[in-house]
Amino acid sequence: MADVKKIAVLAGDGIGPEVIAEAEKVLKRTEELFGYKFETEHALFGGIAIDERGTPLPQDTLELCQKSDAVLLGAVGGPKWDNNSKELRPETGLLGIRKALGLFSNIRPAVIFDCLKDASTLKPEVLEGTDLIVVRELTGGIYFGEKFRRDTPNGQEAVDTCAYNVSEVERIARQAFEIARTRRKKLASVDKANVLETSRLWRETVIRVAADYPDVELEHVLVDNCAMQLLRRPSSFDVIVTENMFGDILSDEAAMLTGSIGMLSSASLGEGSFGLYEPVHGSAPDIAGQGIANPIATILSVALMFRLTFGYHDAADSIERAVKNVLDAGHRTGDIAVDKSQAIGTTAMGDLIVQAMNR
Ligand code: NAI
Ligand code: MG
Repeated sequence: MADVKKIAVLAGDGIGPEVIAEAEKVLKRTEELFGYKFETEHALFGGIAIDERGTPLPQDTLELCQKSDAVLLGAVGGPKWDNNSKELRPETGLLGIRKALGLFSNIRPAVIFDCLKDASTLKPEVLEGTDLIVVRELTGGIYFGEKFRRDTPNGQEAVDTCAYNVSEVERIARQAFEIARTRRKKLASVDKANVLETSRLWRETVIRVAADYPDVELEHVLVDNCAMQLLRRPSSFDVIVTENMFGDILSDEAAMLTGSIGMLSSASLGEGSFGLYEPVHGSAPDIAGQGIANPIATILSVALMFRLTFGYHDAADSIERAVKNVLDAGHRTGDIAVDKSQAIGTTAMGDLIVQAMNR
């Protein structure tokens, strides 16, 4: 009998609850097929928590996450809360929860489904076989360094500083090597070591950590070159690890290889196996409540949870296979449909994926 995994479910706002409902069907089907056991508990988060509790991240929501093995998040935000003060904005809840849970890396897979190659702006033959993951450091670098302005004879000057210490680089490097180990065992470490001191420390540290992972092939790529290679030979990458700002930019670039925001999953990880899993997209207020959102990004986030937090690779394979088979059979939600009149809704897509799951 498998042990029971506790999952905190934060459905959030807009299409969040709609796509989360489909992901929960997948959890239930996984229990039936594989004998794993999940205990899910819902809590308020984001705009709905502001409305009902006066804060985007209520204390009991945070405590639920802290005593869970993983968090499954829908999306938060919407025009209703856009003019609120900072403490009463849904995004403040997102930053708060990542910080409180010690999540220091963001992980985004970019996988090309062959039958959706037309959705991308790149040539199908360039995309063929692309299946990569970007691991982005989330808590250090220039976004968090000291910033200030000062007067100079040439007018005001603004300063942002970029700092990384060895332990920050080491923990993200280890995580990336561990992930690479479960895949094609190739890691590209991206830096700007020809110019930046933080990048030189980054590279030295990654090389030192690599000694513990002789089975993983390591390459160092300068960030400007990586931006080019992602468009030129995306299928040659397996895992890419990089610092905060480079990762912000490269993960968006990699996401667009696939051409569709409704398909993209993500994870935020800290020490140990705990993780927060969510679709890359937001709450899509323009289509909320219509039952037409694509649930695949959230369903693939569950597969990512199975891989990275629980080590349930058989169940993750099953989900990914089911998604591929449903797409190959021609089923499409509106965002990925060529002929919009043939598009199916959120629940229909979720049901088809659940039915297609097998051992
Ligand atoms: P968005 O990702 O919500 O929507 C962008 C476009 O993609 C919209 O046209 C939307 O209809 C479409 N789209 C998104 N997800 C889809 C899906 N699953 N199926 C079909 N179509 C989909 O980004 P936007 O419009 O910039 O932001 C809307 C709200 O979401 C804002 O309040 C923003 O702050 C919030 N947001 C929240 C995030 C989170 O919770 N992690 C991440 C990004 C934005
Ligand atoms: Mg970005």
